[in-house]
Amino acid sequence: MIVVIDGPAGSGKSSTARAVAANLQIQFLDSGALYRVATLLYIDAQQEFTTFFDKLKESEISFYFKNEKFHAFLDGQEVSDEIRSMKVSQHVSEVASNPKVRAYVNDLMREVVKHDAYIADGRDLGTAVFPDADLKFFMVADLETRARRRFKEEKDKGSNVTLEEVKQNIAQRDQTDANRSSDPLRKADDAIEVDTSEMSFDDQVAFISKKVEELISSQ
Ligand code: DC
Repeated sequence: MIVVIDGPAGSGKSSTARAVAANLQIQFLDSGALYRVATLLYIDAQQEFTTFFDKLKESEISFYFKNEKFHAFLDGQEVSDEIRSMKVSQHVSEVASNPKVRAYVNDLMREVVKHDAYIADGRDLGTAVFPDADLKFFMVADLETRARRRFKEEKDKGSNVTLEEVKQNIAQRDQTDANRSSDPLRKADDAIEVDTSEMSFDDQVAFISKKVEELISSQ
């Protein structure tokens, strides 16, 4: 079983998918985290694409989900915190806009979900990666709400980034993610749209959990 939640940065899809996965005891796959791990290699390769892509093919990206946390590894070393840095956030859309990188990450995801029941979050899962997903959601929220959520996460981590910087980063990523030629952010025709601007976190989780439970009991 594969359930997908797509949507723009800060719409709440990742935290919601994580909570639903924990509630229903299924696996969670954070596709953005995989692009973020690849971005570490891109930064390491001083943003030189050929060197970076060679490194990516030689590297092993792995992950697991435990206690509501998605753990990401690069060549066996945990990079879960490192991939959330502003530096990675600034370069990740650039990396994710490359079709070769997308093909690489997509293959990795398609292989993994064969082995268990998953809820995954991303930008193009319902349209490009898993067009036959069992259930699709598309989460949206206004820019101000999304920026405030990400800003709070940054503050909680002790970062001194400003709300305005977070907002600019999100607006910039919205632009790149929605306008790239390779599998842009787009709602699948058969996805259920969930606007979380006025919804509490618990309501988002309850709404999606209920739909997934209905799916599980119908199988
Ligand atoms: O969900 P996130 O903010 O961690 O995602 C990081 C970036 O990865 C985001 O700016 C766009 C890209 N991404 C993508 O292009 N396709 C996906 N399925 C998931 C993420």
